[in-house]
Amino acid sequence: MHATARAQPNIALVKYWGKRDLARNLPAVGSISITLEDLYTEMSVSFDAACAADVLVVNGREDPALLPRLSRCLDSVAGTKRSPARIESRSNFPIGAGLASSASAFAAVTVAASAAAGLERDRHALAALAGGASGSAARSLFDGFVELATGSDGISVSSVMPPDGWPLRVVIAVTAPGPKPIGSGAAMELSRKTSPFYRRWVDEQPRDIERAHAAVRERDFAALAAVAEHNCLKMHSLMWTSRPAVVYWNAVTLTCMETVRALRADGVPVFFTIDAGPQLKAVCEPQAEAEVSEALAAVPGVRDLLTTGLGRGARLVATA
Ligand code: DP6
Repeated sequence: MHATARAQPNIALVKYWGKRDLARNLPAVGSISITLEDLYTEMSVSFDAACAADVLVVNGREDPALLPRLSRCLDSVAGTKRSPARIESRSNFPIGAGLASSASAFAAVTVAASAAAGLERDRHALAALAGGASGSAARSLFDGFVELATGSDGISVSSVMPPDGWPLRVVIAVTAPGPKPIGSGAAMELSRKTSPFYRRWVDEQPRDIERAHAAVRERDFAALAAVAEHNCLKMHSLMWTSRPAVVYWNAVTLTCMETVRALRADGVPVFFTIDAGPQLKAVCEPQAEAEVSEALAAVPGVRDLLTTGLGRGARLVATA
C-alpha cells in the first residue's frame, strides 16, 4: 500500500480568487491556467495500520505545518476509517512562497493516496478531490492550458490545449524567498467579505475566461497578454481593497512589472502575472526567453530566476 506521484505547479492566467462554498472549497469563479514542466513536487503515501498517527516528512525533515490539511485531504480520498499514513514530500523549488507549491503538493498527494488505497479514479474525479483540498490543485491534474469551470454542484476541469500546442515559456523572478504573510485561502475570504469590488470581480470573470479561451484557441499572444495582466491586476486590487489590506508585492515585484511592460512596448512578446506572493511570473514566446531572462536578471533585488516550459498533469510514478 505505497504509491508515489509527481505533479507540477500551475500558474493561473485568469485567476481563482474567492469561494462560493467554504465547506466544499468550491471556487466562486472559473479560472484558466498553464501547468508547468520543470518545477515539481513528488509525494509518497503509505497507509500503515501499525502507525499511531499521520506523519509528514518534507525534503527529508519531519514538518507538521501542512499536516492537518494533508490529513483532511487523505480522509476525503481514502475515507475517515483509513489507516494512518506516512507522507513524504520532495520539491525542487521553494515552498510556501507564492510559487503554487500547494497546487503541486495537493495534486500529487491526491493521486498517490488514491493509488495507495487501491482505488481507481479517473482524472476528473481526482481533480475534484484535489480541488476540495486546494482549489488551484485541481488544475495541476491536467496538461498544458487548463480550464476550471465552477458551479453549485462542483467543479469541472479540462485541458484546452496540450503543452506542445502553444509551447510558451515561463520565467519566474524570485524577489523574496520567505513564506507569505497570509495564506491565499484566508486572504480570499477577506476579499469576499470586505472588498467593495468583490461582486464586480465575480460578475466580470466569465468575460475574461471567454477572452482567454479565444486567445489560446487562436494562439493570439497580444490578446492573451491583455486579458492575463488585466485579470491579475484586478485580483490584486481586490486584495488591496480588503480590510485589512493584503499586499503581497514588494518594490522589486513592481520594478519587474515595469521591466516586462517596457519589453512589450519594444515589441517583445511577454506579459506578467503575480499570485499570492511577491514573485513575478513572465510568460513569453520561446524566441523571447533569453531577452526576458536577461532583463529580469538585471533588476536589482531579483534573487533567482526559474525557467520552465509547459508540462503534463499529475501522474503516478511508483507503486508497491
Ligand atoms: C492567487 O488554491 O491556494 O494562486 O483553495 O484556499 O487552497 P485554496 O486556495 P489556492 O488559491 C490560489 C490563488 C491564486 C490564483 C490561482 O491560482 O488561480
